[in-house]
Amino acid sequence: MIKKSNFHSIPSQAKRLDERHTDNSFEVAICGMKIAVEPGVYQTSEDSELMAESVEITKNQNFLEIGCGTGVVSISVAKRAANGIGVDINEKAVANARRNAEAQKIDNLQFFVSDVFEKVTGNFDVIICNPPYTKHDAKDNIERMFWDPENEMKQTFFKEVGGYLKMRGKIYFGWADFADIDTNLPFKLAEKHGYILVNTFKKPHKNDFHFYVLEFTRKPA
Ligand SMILES: C[S@@+](CC[C@H](N)C(=O)[O-])C[C@H]1O[C@@H](n2cnc3c(N)ncnc32)[C@H](O)[C@@H]1O
Repeated sequence: MIKKSNFHSIPSQAKRLDERHTDNSFEVAICGMKIAVEPGVYQTSEDSELMAESVEITKNQNFLEIGCGTGVVSISVAKRAANGIGVDINEKAVANARRNAEAQKIDNLQFFVSDVFEKVTGNFDVIICNPPYTKHDAKDNIERMFWDPENEMKQTFFKEVGGYLKMRGKIYFGWADFADIDTNLPFKLAEKHGYILVNTFKKPHKNDFHFYVLEFTRKPA
């Protein structure tokens, strides 16, 4: 159970989206790297960093990231893993992630366009998803960095993740305690589809809310 903060996400996300619809490109220092943020792509924040820090993986394990954005989480995790795949519904994000991986000289990682698991094949030790948190209409794929119409992406993720997760695999799911979202949605979806929470990672944000990473595994039979 996560208690809501007083922070309403929609006004600040709308402002950010106006900015991400311009030609503005910039670089951010994150996870010990310089990551390029191209137009139309999620700019990364403390949630990306918390996710990269929370994922536990070993050199003989593979991973999948749903919703890779700039690729920062996948690139950081790939340095500790056998190999990985990052996908995103936004083709601008996939192109941005490929360029960042090349700049970081990472060659055990593939990026491609996929609506959640649509184009994914294989089984993974670790599946990562830092989703758009807020239930809100989206007029294009850029807006899907924050907004998930009818929470469909998150519902599809929990409904289908079992088809791609190894038996002893781990799910890392990003979340926040915004006032204007159903903060308990991941717990309800996990319960419905047979997963249990095994770890919670939490980071405060200066705007008086928290980011979370929720680690789930399959419910023991
Ligand atoms: C909050 S951003 C996270 C980006 C990156 N993982 C990070 O932490 O910096 C959410 C990402 O999910 C992607 N996304 C939204 N809906 C999706 C869907 N149906 N299938 C795949 N990716 C999706 C967005 O385009 C966006 O890049």
